[in-house]
Amino acid sequence: MSAGSGSEIVIVDERWERMGEVLGHCYEVLYRSCGVLPAGDWFCPTTGCELAVALDPRGAILGTARLLPGDNDREKQIRHVAVRPESRGCGLGKALVATLEWRAADDGADTVWLNARESAISFYQRLGFVAEGGLFDSGLTRLRHLRMRKRLRPAFGEAMTGASSFCRVPNIHAI
Ligand SMILES: CC(C)(COP(=O)(O)OP(=O)(O)OC[C@H]1O[C@@H](n2cnc3c(N)ncnc32)[C@H](O)[C@@H]1OP(=O)(O)O)[C@@H](O)C(=O)NCCC(=O)NCCS
Repeated sequence: MSAGSGSEIVIVDERWERMGEVLGHCYEVLYRSCGVLPAGDWFCPTTGCELAVALDPRGAILGTARLLPGDNDREKQIRHVAVRPESRGCGLGKALVATLEWRAADDGADTVWLNARESAISFYQRLGFVAEGGLFDSGLTRLRHLRMRKRLRPAFGEAMTGASSFCRVPNIHAI
């Protein structure tokens, strides 16, 4: 499916009325196949986050990504980047991450970091993230991960331009 056919990205927080759907989406994309129980604490912390949510023209959730405070004001953490299998490969993942980079920079952060699944390391490298340290096992999913970090300035404007032209997502707005 093309991300250009009327998709939009909305920015919400955990009080959003459709948060149950967001959780269901994240669980299906990220955790079910790893044997993590739906009732587990995989979304923790449950408060203090912003989410970028990609919606199709009918409002169905295509993808999500989550922004959390970092250890200090200059950094933020990105988690739960998850695009539905049938919507991959058309720029949504890139647009979701770019949207959170924009939010982080707007909030005064100059870097974002994340723990990348091994299968997604190349995806994040393409977006400008750089490895920190070595691979480690996640206790939750038992998948290998790599800590990665991206400086938001001065490359931030370039990232946003690339995302919007590649994805042609017409609207990014907060609810
Ligand atoms: C990883 C994921 C978010 C990528 O989303 P997507 O919408 O398919 O990615 P995009 O279409 O925006 O791809 C952006 C670029 O990354 C590349 N890319 C996408 N997935 C990739 C992967 N797994 N490995 C290497 N490159 C990848 C694309 O080819 C594209 O390259 P280009 O800009 O040079 O054309 C998606 O595959 C997913 O949800 N995977 C399962 C959950 C997951 O692993 N999430 C990450 C947790 S850390």
